[in-house]
Amino acid sequence: HPHIAYRGEDLYIEGQRLSDLAQAHGTPLYVYSKASMLDALAAYQRGFAGRKVQICYAMKANSSLAVLQLFARAGCGFDIVSGGELARVLAAGGDPAKVIFSGVGKTRAEMRQALDAGIGCFNVESEAELEVLSAVASQTGKTAPVSIRVNPNVDPKTHPYISTGLKGNKFGVAHERTLATYQRAAALPGLRVAGIDCHIGSQITEVAPYLDAVDRVLDLVQEIEAAGIPIHHIDFGGGLGINYNGDTPPAADALWAQLFAKLDARGYGDRQFMIEPGRSLVGNAGVCLTEVLYLKPGEQKNFCIVDAAMNDLPRPAMYQAFHGIVPVRGPAAASATTYDVVGPVCESGDWIGRDRSLAVQQGQYLAVLSAGAYCASMASNYNTRGRAAEVLVDGDQARLVREREGAADTFRTEKLLP
Ligand code: LLP
Repeated sequence: HPHIAYRGEDLYIEGQRLSDLAQAHGTPLYVYSKASMLDALAAYQRGFAGRKVQICYAMKANSSLAVLQLFARAGCGFDIVSGGELARVLAAGGDPAKVIFSGVGKTRAEMRQALDAGIGCFNVESEAELEVLSAVASQTGKTAPVSIRVNPNVDPKTHPYISTGLKGNKFGVAHERTLATYQRAAALPGLRVAGIDCHIGSQITEVAPYLDAVDRVLDLVQEIEAAGIPIHHIDFGGGLGINYNGDTPPAADALWAQLFAKLDARGYGDRQFMIEPGRSLVGNAGVCLTEVLYLKPGEQKNFCIVDAAMNDLPRPAMYQAFHGIVPVRGPAAASATTYDVVGPVCESGDWIGRDRSLAVQQGQYLAVLSAGAYCASMASNYNTRGRAAEVLVDGDQARLVREREGAADTFRTEKLLP
């Protein structure tokens, strides 16, 4: 990784020594590289040179205000999934006109909030939602721009990693209901058909599922436009994977070269496109620093107990996800031992890494890698643990962009009985 690497025995992020940051701000601590985020964005932008594409960062991956600011300043829009995320976009100075609103369960209040803000598009996920959105828009004297999320039902046998674009999950409108749904949308008074969208899954490391999805979506565009409903933009969602543990996803520009070859071949290359990348923009731009509290040798397992836990970094507990774990201060004198790296939370499922060979001592810092996406944004206060602090590094500058939560912060909204 160009921006997170050892210099001698010390792990650096850009120009900052990570052990210095851990000492200055305490642990657990999320640290992000601005250059790494902008590099990831640049790979997409290279792939889109000469094309009409709006990148809408899927902010659920990392919704810290400073990260949103950085992407907003780089021209990105945002893919949001709640009224709370919209409030964050506005607080970070994002352009509401470049916001698209995804999700199967938008409330009427969220619809009103988004209409008032003037967002770019609602990505509608069901026929029932269309009816409600039209009614809410009509009540407020507005017209809601809509795209319908279609479920391309990409073949699970050939592409086992895909999880959200299949029949039998809650997302999107079934392929065979798509035309009828568009006809209903075009007839509803409070709606204006703007586009079509799909999202086939996350952590996708192959090109083939995307190519299949493109074919299926273009078939639908053809069918819908033949019925007299123009489709102004085509949104291919997010989903491009990152390297956690030897994964080899295509580079964003290489992926898009292949997708545009197909789009051009089918005569759609000059359309307005949108994409909603999340993980691939931020995942490998961040680490979570944690201190080794205790080493606990055992008969069956050795445990390395650290101060980061499942509430800080839930992916291992939730998905058995792999995150690399490396010492912040390089190869120690002690020889390596195999540990389960676990947190202080009172659950057996509270682990960060299993069977890791580490040369560590009590009091040392470790860095949990690939922690820029779906880590801090999924953190909770379980066990009344305050959320970790976050630092954004830009060259040799480090800025605290989120203070560590104290206990009082975690119960601020609670009321004692009289
Ligand atoms: N668009 C839609 C409609 C989505 O549902 C998602 C992610 C994205 C875009 C962004 O996908 P990405 O480019 O980040 O793959 N918490 C899980 C991942 C959940 C993804 C949910 N949807 C994890 O930690 O792996």
